[in-house]
Amino acid sequence: METVRLYYEEFGKSQPIIFLHGYPLDHTIWLPLMPLLKEYARLILPDLRGHGLSPKPSGIYTMEVMAADVRALMDELKTERAVLVGHSMGGYVALAFARDFPQRLAGLALVASHCFVDQPERLKLRLENADKVERTGEVAFITEAMLPNLSPDAAIREEIKTIIMNANSVGVASVLRGMAQRQDTSAVLANLTIPAVIIAGNEDQIIPLERSRQMAALMKQPWLEVIPRVGHMPMLEAPDVVSRILLELLEKVDFSEKK
Ligand code: MLT
Repeated sequence: METVRLYYEEFGKSQPIIFLHGYPLDHTIWLPLMPLLKEYARLILPDLRGHGLSPKPSGIYTMEVMAADVRALMDELKTERAVLVGHSMGGYVALAFARDFPQRLAGLALVASHCFVDQPERLKLRLENADKVERTGEVAFITEAMLPNLSPDAAIREEIKTIIMNANSVGVASVLRGMAQRQDTSAVLANLTIPAVIIAGNEDQIIPLERSRQMAALMKQPWLEVIPRVGHMPMLEAPDVVSRILLELLEKVDFSEKK
């Protein structure tokens, strides 16, 4: 599948950090971090294909094609190496990127994400939901099902609701099918030699904390940050803590080109 040209917003300057949002969200989830980070780095916030203002071609959006879109964006921005910060599905894309374009990755943060494949029931539900979205063109039932699990904080759930309600049905169905096809990336995580951190909320109802612990145990240099009283949306629920961790990551990163 051809790459698409992603919509993005940009803040600050200097070394690049690219933020990849989860499903079915958009770049705006990262905005609370911008005032806290923009004097330290160049912050690039794309909408992944099918989401927000980016193109929504028909077809299955595999994690590989979404990772290739990010690489194409880096080419467009003349950015040789970047740190990727991936939230949930954005983390699946970041791990596919780490496998397919390792020379282009300088550091990695996985936020409420994981490297494993879907359990059978989850897989079945994804495909059923993709069929239903295609059949009806509706995404409201997705919002209803997801929202209660996204955050223990009602105000944050309300904020996210608008984004999900505006999600595009072609994008939603295509990315559900792509996530259903994704491969296990445990070996990618285990073989990483760049600085990497796993950030998890201890009240995440979508990615259980146990998964984050299993992932950290795979890493050559395990680094797991568990944020108390936070669910699936740490960048909205605890932006100050997430920024502090990202700055710590940034200090460890070497951006020079790898041959
Ligand atoms: C997300 O937040 O990106 C999704 O919940 C991830 C998933 O469905 O596996």
